[in-house]
Amino acid sequence: MSSPAVAVQLSDAEMRLLQALVYQECGMYFDARRTHFLQDRLQRRLRECRMDSFYSYYRLLISASGREELMCLLQNLTVNETSFFRNKAQIDLFHKQILEEIIRQKQHDQQPTIRIWSAGCSTGQEAYTIAMLVADGLAYHQLRMPPSAGVQWPKPLVPAPWRVEIPASDINYAVLRAGQEGLYNEHQMSSVDYAYRLRYFDKVGERYAVKATIKELVHFDFHNLKTEFLPQKNDVIFCRNVMMYFDEAEQRRLIEKFYRCLNPCGYLLVGHAESLLGLTDKFAMIYRNSGTAYKRIEEAQ
Ligand SMILES: C[S@@+](CC[C@H](N)C(=O)[O-])C[C@H]1O[C@@H](n2cnc3c(N)ncnc32)[C@H](O)[C@@H]1O
Repeated sequence: MSSPAVAVQLSDAEMRLLQALVYQECGMYFDARRTHFLQDRLQRRLRECRMDSFYSYYRLLISASGREELMCLLQNLTVNETSFFRNKAQIDLFHKQILEEIIRQKQHDQQPTIRIWSAGCSTGQEAYTIAMLVADGLAYHQLRMPPSAGVQWPKPLVPAPWRVEIPASDINYAVLRAGQEGLYNEHQMSSVDYAYRLRYFDKVGERYAVKATIKELVHFDFHNLKTEFLPQKNDVIFCRNVMMYFDEAEQRRLIEKFYRCLNPCGYLLVGHAESLLGLTDKFAMIYRNSGTAYKRIEEAQ
């Protein structure tokens, strides 16, 4: 094996092989508009592995010993763009309507565990946004309806008897590590207002560190959405700006899995450029001030 001096050009058949392998492994579909990106990332991996033949590299990818390299290639293909409070209209819908409904219902049923999954969480901003909103939601609920036993002092972030679980998953180990670290620079913090910064972050050098009390609510873990082994019993699933990289067949399969991963009447939130329209009849769309979400329809309804 030698370091390739010139880029390895893929034939159409080779490109199709690579597309099929990526699709089979993680659901990402590279159509004609995105093959250039796939080709570019492949070249990077070939250089890194010091290989100059596509077939040798492909054989490595499909071998048992090439598992690590396959994961590395997939991680080079993911788009990890994210931000705190992304899609403000949808975040408001979650905060002011969905979360309030869940808290009320759980209080009524005396089931004080709230579980919200950030699927395709990238570097954690979405999961930490959810954690801050749930903490605020529970504090406001307690303010309006103080427990008969009195309010605990000092006030914990999550008042008893509530439990909050926010699984945050991704296929990319590098972004999961960054999420776990929970350190964000000024640019990444641009959508976090003064009040949230004060309450939920500490300044560490030039960066902002998510406070430990918020970090404790979020559990980062590797999950490939292509597989069946996914976090269960969620009240809400955020899967935003992930499905757009899948083809229609894979989107349908994923929506079915999300249906099963949700509690009855649970909610699925997808990205602003994504929709469940024409893909399922198991969810009803709700809309408020430009924010959208999908509610699981129960058979008896
Ligand atoms: C554009 S980011 C979206 C981040 C966040 N949800 C948001 O909207 O701000 C898409 C994320 O989905 C992840 N992803 C792509 N395919 C995946 C798969 N099959 N399983 C799990 N995560 C995947 C990528 O690694 C990436 O971090």
